[in-house]
Order: sequence, then structure tokens, then C-alpha cells
Amino acid sequence: MQGRLDMEGALTARDRVGIQDFVLLDETTEVAVISNLKKRFSKDLIYTYIGTLIVSVNPYKDLDIYNKKQMDVYMGVNFFELPPHIYALADNAYHTMLTEFNNHFILISGESGAGKTEASKKILQYYAVSCPSTTLMNTVRDKMLMSNPVLEAFGNAKTLKNDNSSRFGKYMDIQFDSQGDAVGGHILNYLLEKSRVVHQNHGERNFHVFYQLVEGGSDDLLTQLGLERDVQHYYYLTQGECAIVSSINDKNDWKSVKNALQVIEFDETNTNHLFRVVASVLHLGNVHFDPDSKGHALLKNNTELNWVSDLLGVDANNLKEGLTFRKIEAKTEQVLSPFTIDHAIYVRDALAKAIYGQTFTWLVNRINESMENKDSSRKTVIGLLDIYGFEVFYVNSFEQFCINYCNEKLQQLFIQLTLKAEQEEYEAEGIEWEPVQFFNNKIICDLVEEKHRGIISILDEECLRPGDATDLTFLDRLEEKMGNHPHFVTHRLADKMTRKTLERGDFRLLHYAGEVTYCVVGFLDKNNDLLYRNIKNLVCQSKNTIVRECFSAVDTTNKRRPETVATQFKNSLQKLTEMLMAKEAWYIRCLKSNESKQPGQFDEALIRHQVKYLGLMEHLRVRRAGFAYRRKYEDFLKRYKPLCPATWPHWRGMPADGVEVLAQHLGYLPDEYKMGRTKIFIRHPRTLYATEDAYEKCKHDLASKLQAKYKGYKVKGEFKKQKEAATKIETCWRGAQARKEKEKRAWAVKVIKKFIKAYINRGEAKSTDNSEYLAFVRQSYLNRLKNNLPKTVLDKTTWLTPPAVLTEASEILRKLHYRLMVRKYVRGIPPQKKAQLQMKVVTSAIFKGKKENYPPSIPQLFLDTRISEQEINIRVLSMIRNEQIKYSVPVIKYDRNGFKPRPRQFILTKTAAYLVEEAKIKQRVSYNSLQGISVSSLSDGIIAIHITCEDPKQKGDLIIQCEHLYEFLTKLSIIANKQDAIKVVQGSIKIKIQSGKESSVDFTTGQEPMVYKAKNGHLMVVATRTRTR
Ligand SMILES: Nc1ncnc2c1ncn2[C@@H]1O[C@H](COP(=O)(O)OP(=O)(O)O)[C@@H](O)[C@H]1O
Ligand SMILES: [Mg+2]
Repeated sequence: MQGRLDMEGALTARDRVGIQDFVLLDETTEVAVISNLKKRFSKDLIYTYIGTLIVSVNPYKDLDIYNKKQMDVYMGVNFFELPPHIYALADNAYHTMLTEFNNHFILISGESGAGKTEASKKILQYYAVSCPSTTLMNTVRDKMLMSNPVLEAFGNAKTLKNDNSSRFGKYMDIQFDSQGDAVGGHILNYLLEKSRVVHQNHGERNFHVFYQLVEGGSDDLLTQLGLERDVQHYYYLTQGECAIVSSINDKNDWKSVKNALQVIEFDETNTNHLFRVVASVLHLGNVHFDPDSKGHALLKNNTELNWVSDLLGVDANNLKEGLTFRKIEAKTEQVLSPFTIDHAIYVRDALAKAIYGQTFTWLVNRINESMENKDSSRKTVIGLLDIYGFEVFYVNSFEQFCINYCNEKLQQLFIQLTLKAEQEEYEAEGIEWEPVQFFNNKIICDLVEEKHRGIISILDEECLRPGDATDLTFLDRLEEKMGNHPHFVTHRLADKMTRKTLERGDFRLLHYAGEVTYCVVGFLDKNNDLLYRNIKNLVCQSKNTIVRECFSAVDTTNKRRPETVATQFKNSLQKLTEMLMAKEAWYIRCLKSNESKQPGQFDEALIRHQVKYLGLMEHLRVRRAGFAYRRKYEDFLKRYKPLCPATWPHWRGMPADGVEVLAQHLGYLPDEYKMGRTKIFIRHPRTLYATEDAYEKCKHDLASKLQAKYKGYKVKGEFKKQKEAATKIETCWRGAQARKEKEKRAWAVKVIKKFIKAYINRGEAKSTDNSEYLAFVRQSYLNRLKNNLPKTVLDKTTWLTPPAVLTEASEILRKLHYRLMVRKYVRGIPPQKKAQLQMKVVTSAIFKGKKENYPPSIPQLFLDTRISEQEINIRVLSMIRNEQIKYSVPVIKYDRNGFKPRPRQFILTKTAAYLVEEAKIKQRVSYNSLQGISVSSLSDGIIAIHITCEDPKQKGDLIIQCEHLYEFLTKLSIIANKQDAIKVVQGSIKIKIQSGKESSVDFTTGQEPMVYKAKNGHLMVVATRTRTR
């Protein structure tokens, strides 16, 4: 609802000058309508809506409302959201076409000079700029745009009504693909006013192209074509006496035409031939006939004729003959009958008209070829109908008759599609309705076109009738047949008052747009549009390709009369109407603001007249009372059902009920819509636009929802697929695994069986049965052995028990291994430790198992000495230095007499042992005199050194006690080389004290170690017991 309020606010804001849509006027009077138009016109607001119809008033001045910026503003915006503009209509038609994928047409109507052609160009430009584009389409687009200046040059002329009046009818289809790209175009042309080529009324011109060529063509070109740069020189250009007009710049226009020809892909030959045709017409106009003595036409000066023959590529003599003689084919021979001057001029003009007219058609065909879209995919089109407007001149002839008939037809179409059809529809749909009265011009259309009774039929009859039918006999026949038709009047039929305004050769039609008096002169000729056969044959052989193409298409051998011009025109209009009826219509009604083409002039009477005959008031009334929009229930529901939860995604009931529910849900007010039999009718466009806006929004939401759903679905699918794949792979893998396992087991069973048999026979000699098993046993034992070898020499338990076959090998290996370990161990011993061990070996040899405290002494390391040289008295040192001191140790010496203990140093040299007290050497024992050494088997430190007593000075055996007994004795035994001299004695040790005297050292064990002189005079040694392990 917010949106609706905004829109209404904007609508009123824009209605500053008058009212933008007549539907919103307070009263629907003509006065109100015209005053609104005037108000807006005075502010250069030339467009006003009646619903979706545009009323446009020609401003006769350039307004700055057709630029790119304006186009951008209107692009894709809802119709009523912006001030009225022709772009809004163009855009709306375009978008409706895209959304509904159907065909449309824009009917541009209005009298001559009202602005139809300008309007159609603006629309074309809008599509060219606003539609999406690609390079390919750009060329199509350029061609569509550029076809205009070319067609206007050849088909437009200055008339009294309009300086650029279209003298042909044009219907152009713009083809769009489903993306909305303009991809092609096609033009249908209707009845070119050919008579203008040879004759122009005062104040009018021939077709623009002639003046453009003479004014703008290069000198070279003019020379080539034999033309002079002077429009006054040419008869066909000067009859209106206004060859030069200030509003037209022929020179510049020539340039645009030449440029446009290039864009629409005219090659040089074609362009050249085209210009030759144009020039030939100018030359033809100047072909002058003189009378001979009998009054027959004579061609004295052949210059112009020769140019014509040159430019058209036809034989000059034949041309001359064709222009001055008529060839009558009698039974056996051909007779040439000479023309009067008038007749010759008639033939000349007929040729000029024929050439020009055919060339124009050829031009349209060429343009169509160049714009053709060759792609066969389905297209939708927007047709643009810009046809000559209703016109009334001082003298009106066959052309005006056709033009105004055409306008009657279009008015009829408009009535059919809007007023009549609309009201009939309300009736058919059962919508309550107050009928609006309108003038139906069908009666005039019938007057003109009815079979056998209409003016065209009567004209054709006169044309075909044998005998001397003339324009006047035609008028007689009209009077006969139409005598009392309310829309037909002639001089004879008229009342007194009217008669004054009519000439004898006139008939008057009361057209929907006003009365027009037609002069019958020329009707028959123009309707016949005949070209004598010899002239036709001549141009058929033209060397100018365009001319040849144009005429060879017309079958010259066919003797049946071709259809008359009026009938052709009638038929083509009939076809056009049918074609348009199948499309959706949009209307632009153009109004002329004044007759003098002046800006800023608003001729109220003129406007009122147009408003009236265009039926604008009726249209407005129907619109106001009626409904802007209607749609079949099914279609409406189909489009808008997402807007209501009850109808989305499916409505199960009747479509009409669904639409009702939808309308309620959307909050339509009761007078905003009506429910017909098959359609819903919506009164105001704004209601529909609000709905459409909501739909747009909803579409986006839906789209994202769908997208999300779809994505989810896709991902799920993907996941399922992956999962299935995974399961498949898994099963395959498991299968493969299982098969492998089975094989393995079968193999294992075989092997196990074999091994069991081999195990049973393992004791027997190697045979095929057990060889494998034995090999396995061997290998596996060796493998296990390799990993479980003993790590140290001392480890005697870890050696694996070998199987029977390997007992011997195992033993060898074991020995090898131990040897290897020993070798390794020995190599790893440092020299110092080796010396130590060697000494320990000596010690072991002497004491092992003999002396009680030997085992605990093993780990105690032997030192090099127990007394350093610094601790030995210098005098002693000086005395024994040259003997080399090897080892010194403190000892306690027991006196020989009373066994008193005395601390002494005991020094070993290379040759002798010394007992030293401070600076005195108390005793020297040379190793030679050393007889033996005794120690007890207990754990005391007493040593008895037995010495040879040959020398009287010797004082007998030496009793000492040493803390480092094993070290001392080992060193002594090594230094003195006396290993065998050391004895471990059980019980007592006999000792010699002085020569010949003996004593004894007794050993016992006790709590405390003690050494003392026993009562028996022996030395008593008490040792503690050493705990054995
Ligand atoms: N929208 C417009 N803006 C300015 N001038 C216009 C407009 N429409 C028409 N005219 C003027 O009116 C002249 C006649 O318009 P035209 O479209 O040729 O009329 P029609 O095709 O209806 O006979 C144009 O040449 C131009 O000068
Ligand atoms: Mg026009």
C-alpha cells in the first residue's frame, strides 16, 4: 500500500501544469479538454494521456525532450510514473511485448503536418538507443534508422500543409528476438503519390530527391548526368513556383542521403543507376514537343531525349517513337498512329511517373533486403504505422481521395479496436455499462469501398467499360448510384446553398474529419495508370539494371488488365487492417496546433475540430467510465498467483474464484475492479502497476527461493551420487580383499598341512617332504638368533636352543660369537687398565683362594706409588737415585727383639728394597738375597721377608705390616721377579732373628685386629674375619 501512496503522491506532484491524463479531469467536456491541452501546450508540454493513448500537439519548434538523458529516464519505468512522453509509450509497448511475447503496433494518426512522421522517428530512435545491443544488431539498427532519410528523400515532398509531407504510406515492423534485441526490420509501402513527379500545385514541390541532387550533387556527377545546377531549369521542379524553401536545406540533406545509402549497403553501381533514374526523370520533364502541320507531336530538339535514352540505357529512336506514336496491333500488321501534343505529353509524364514509382518500390525492397533478419527463430514485432494524414487542399484529386479513404479506414480500425470493441466486450462480459455514443465512420468506408456499389467499384467499372468513358461519365454514374447517400453530394444533388460551393465536375464526401470536395478530372487516368505497351517493352530492355528489374517483373505479355490503382490500394489497406487487428494496438493521436506551421500558436478552432473528428472525447468517455485493464481469469491468475498464499503454487478451484481471492488479498477496493464472465476488469492503471510492482518483487523472492531449493536439491543429488559411489568402491574393495584373504587361507592351509607332515618327518633324512620345512626351520632359527644374540661376554644363558638339525652349527656359531665379543672387549681396554689387569693377574696367581681378604681387594686399584719422591728424604734419595725408584710404601716394622712397631718407608728400586727411617737407610735388601716371603691366610697385613743370612751384618728376617699388602707384594714380585717366592702360610710363620735364632709369628682371629708380643715370645697377630660372599 505504501507504494500506491507514493505513486499517487508523485502523480499529483507532476500535475502542476494542467492534468497529465485526461481520465483524471473533473469534467469530460470539450472545453475542459481543450483548455487542458492549451494550458500544457503553453508550457511546451505537448503530450497528454487518455489512459495509454497519447495526444500529441505539434509544437513546430525543437524541444529539448528527445535526448539520451530523457530516454534513460523513461527506460523500464512504469507508464504513469513519469510525465507523459512518447518514450513512455514506446517503452511500455516494448516491455509488454517482452513479457507477453506477442506482437504490437503503434498507430500514429493525425492530419497532414500533425507530427506523425516525427513521432515515428522518435520511437525508432528510442528503440535504437534503449534496446540491448551487439555489433550485429547495431548494423541492423543503423540500417533501420538510415532507411529513413533515403525514403524521405524519395517519398516526401513539401506540400501546403507540411514542408516534409510523406507522400507514401509506411508501415515498418521492427523485429525483436526473445532477449529484446532489435534484430531486423521490414517496411511495407503504400501508394506513392506519383502524380507529384510531373505536376505540383502552387506552393508545393516535387519529391525532395530531385532538388537534393541538383543542389548537392558534385559537379562531376551533374556532368555525368547531363544536369545543370539550377532547379529552375527543370519543368518538373518549377510548377509549384517554390523550388527553394527556407526550411529545407537540400544540399545538406543530399549529404545525409548519400551517407545513408552507404549504410544500407548500396554499392556504387546501384547508387549510380539510382541517380541516373532520378536524372532521367528531370530530362524527360524537359522533353518538349512541337506541333507539325497536322498538329501531331514532333520532337525537334533531341538533346534531352538523348540524355534520357543514355541515362536509362534505351534506344533513342525507339524512345522517340514511343513518345510520339502509338503502336496499334491489327490482325496482321502493326500500325503506328501519331500522338497529338497533349497525348505525347501524357505519355511522357506517364513514363516519368512509372519509372519513378517503380524505382521507389525497388528502393523499399532493397532496404528490406538489407534489414532482413535471416535467423528463423521466433520474433516478436512492434509495427510503426506512419501513413499520410487526412488532407484537404483547394483542389483535391484522386490522390487525396485515396489518402483520405486510407484515413477513414484507420479511423475505422481505431473505433473497432477501442470504442466499439471495448463496449462490446463489456456487454459480452456482463459488466454494467452506460453505452457511450460515438460516430461510426463505417458508413463512409462502405461508401468508398463496398463491392459493386462503392465509389471504387464504380470508378473501376468506368475504367474498364468499353466505349468513351470519361471522368464526367464517372461522375454521372456516381450520382446515379449514390444519389441519396447522406455523406455524398455533387453539384447536381446539392441543395441551393451547397451548390454554390461546388463546381460541376466535383463530388463531395462528408468524411469523418470534415468535408472534402474532389475534382473528378484525372480520376480515370490515374486509376488506370497505364503505360503503352511499346514504352513498356522499351524500358524492359533498359541497360539500367534498376529500371530493367522494375519493369521485367511486370508481365508485358499478359493481356489481362492489371488491377486498378484504387483497387490495389483498397486491397492493400484491407490486408494492412487484418494484419494490425492481429496485434496489440497503441495509439498516438497527433494534433496540428495551427495551419501556418508557427511555434507557440494554439489555434483553438483547429484543435477543437481535430479533437472532434479524431473521436478523442468519445475515447475519453469510454476510458473514464471503463477499465484501463482487463485480462482473462486464467492469464491473470497465472501471472499473479504467487502474490497470494491461497493461490500459490496452485489454485484448485475455478479461475474466477481464484482471481477474486487474489484481488481480496491484494486489497483491491470494490470499485477498482469488476469481475466479468471470463475476465477481470481493473479500472485504474495504478492498481495494476502496484500489482505488477508487487509481482516483480515477489518474482525475485521466488527466484531466490527456487534457486536455494534447486541448489539444495543439486547438492543432495551430488551427495547421494558420491555416497553410492563410495559404497560401490567399498564393496568392490571388500570383495577384492575377501578374495585375497581366501586365497591366502587356502595357501596357508596347504602350507600348514605340508609343514605338519614335514614336522612329523623332521627327524628323517632330508627329503622332498621335509626339505622345505627344514629350510624354514633353519632360516627362522637363524633369524631369531640374529635378533637374540648375547650382548656381553659374561652372558652365558641367552643363547637360543637350536633345533636338532642345527645343533652343531649352533655350537660353532656360539663360539665364534663369544670370541668375537672377547676380541672386541680386549681391544677396547686402555693401556693403563691393561697394565693394571696384568698386575691383578699376577696377584691372582699368587693369592687367589689362599688369603682370606684377597677377594675384597680385587676391585681396589693399584697405584704407581704410595709415597711420592718429595716425601722421601733428600739424603736417602741422593743415595739411591741411580738405582731408579720403582715403588714406595709406608710400613710398620716390628723390631726383632721386642717386636716393637716402628713406622718406616719401604722403597723398591730396580735392584733392591730399602727400609728407610727419615734420612737413614736402616736396611738394604738386595733382591738376590731375598729368600722368600710369607704371609698368613687370614686378613691381616703382616709380611715376613726371609733374607739370606750369609752376610753377618744382616739382621735376620724382616717383619713388617703393610696396609697395601697385595699391591706391595705384587709390585715387589714383579720388580724383583720373585712370584714364586711368596708363600701363603696356614698357622704360624717361622722367622729367623739374628743368626741362628728363631722365633715365630702366630696368627689367630678375633674381634679386634691386634699385634703384640705374646708371653711365649712369639709375635701374636689377631685378625678380624673377613665376611665371605
Ligand atoms: N515533436 C515535434 N517537435 C518539433 N517539431 C515537430 C514535432 N512534430 C512535428 N514537428 C514539425 O512539424 C513538421 C511536420 O511533421 P510531420 O511529422 O512531418 O507531419 P506528418 O507526418 O504528420 O505529416 C515537422 O517537419 C516538424 O517541423
Ligand atoms: Mg508524415
